[in-house]
Amino acid sequence: MSALPGTLPGKRILLGIGAGIAAYKSAHLARLLKQAGFEVRVVMTEGAQAFIAPLTLQALTGEAVRTSLLDPEAEAGMGHIELARWADRILIAPATADLMARLAHGHADDLLTTLCLASHAEKFMAPAMNQAMWSHPATARNAHRLAEDGWQLLGPDSGDQACGDVGPGRMLEPEDIMAGLSGAVERPAEGLKVVITAGPTREALDPVRYLSNHSSGKMGYALATAAAALGAEVHLISGPVALATPHGVTRHDVESADDMLAAAERLAYDCDLFIGCAAVADYRAEAPAEHKLKKRDDEDAMTLRLVKNPDIIARIAARDDRPFVIGFAAETRDLERYGRDKLTRKQLDMVVANDVSQAGLGFGADDNAAVLLWKDGNAIDRDAQPPQPKSRLAEAVLKRALSRLNTTHHA
Ligand code: C5P
Repeated sequence: MSALPGTLPGKRILLGIGAGIAAYKSAHLARLLKQAGFEVRVVMTEGAQAFIAPLTLQALTGEAVRTSLLDPEAEAGMGHIELARWADRILIAPATADLMARLAHGHADDLLTTLCLASHAEKFMAPAMNQAMWSHPATARNAHRLAEDGWQLLGPDSGDQACGDVGPGRMLEPEDIMAGLSGAVERPAEGLKVVITAGPTREALDPVRYLSNHSSGKMGYALATAAAALGAEVHLISGPVALATPHGVTRHDVESADDMLAAAERLAYDCDLFIGCAAVADYRAEAPAEHKLKKRDDEDAMTLRLVKNPDIIARIAARDDRPFVIGFAAETRDLERYGRDKLTRKQLDMVVANDVSQAGLGFGADDNAAVLLWKDGNAIDRDAQPPQPKSRLAEAVLKRALSRLNTTHHA
């Protein structure tokens, strides 16, 4: 599934609320998640609604709260499987002893447990229960099994309990839960300036006609969205496409390769990472006509003289103050060979090589697969990325680039 409009990849969190008195703190937690830049969707168990009203969470998140698996109206909107795929992370707070038991045994008897079973998202839970329940061997077994299944348990804390007992079992304070989520809240690209070219270019033949290509711009826009979500200052130099400007991104609209080059050279100053994702037209008309070219009755053929466009990415890579430069290689055969050649010939730091001959991938599609190639000393390293939504591939490319940026110097 592709991202919903306006959502940031890596920043979609499903907050599950169980039936514990600590549920009143989940409202504050939802607020903190929103403040940290997450898009939050809330699912409450039936019992949770006895402790806190869904309307409270709806008001705080701006999204309808889901409470039932068998609600035809809600399922007609975003079905539960769609919701399970949407989430990058699931956080259950509070996670009661019963909820832990059901999850440890793979139950799917309500919406929240079903979503947990259906989702590949990273999973966190903040247990909350009476100290005797937490200390019971059955709960200890369940906690152990959940950790084995990949759940990250945040807490519980020890201290005064709502029931009057003192001991381990208190839910962590929302601020501490946020700290526990730190990997998810981190903005590793904070302070970096990223410039991305995207979409096609248009090369005028006359005032009404042009040469162009079918590039949709989706991959470049996915990269811009992901870079902004990671905290970077993002400039997106875009050819004409039918896409909305991603949240938090500065967009610079251009038409021709020459315009794109001018914008790139201007913005490359002080830039840490440059990604050439645009499908730049290789040639342009040598002399675009000033007035509309007329069809001539006495000639069946027409000759256009084309000249080569500048290679934008190679120009950026040739600068003394060059940033880390990532290029794309869209190929229909010998993917890696052409990718490696581009890496060396254009002096790039990384190439994202994708096979555009595969149906449903690459050009215009929502999904993509690619081989990432980068220089490691004199060797070239590789990482094959399977078919996946462009938003996920964009995250993988950026994470790889950020780790390279930390180990190489491009100041
Ligand atoms: O040479 P080729 O067009 O296959 O190289 C693709 C890579 O080079 C992409 O990263 C593309 O954005 C970039 N490019 C460019 N300027 C051009 C042609 C390609 O920046 N004139």
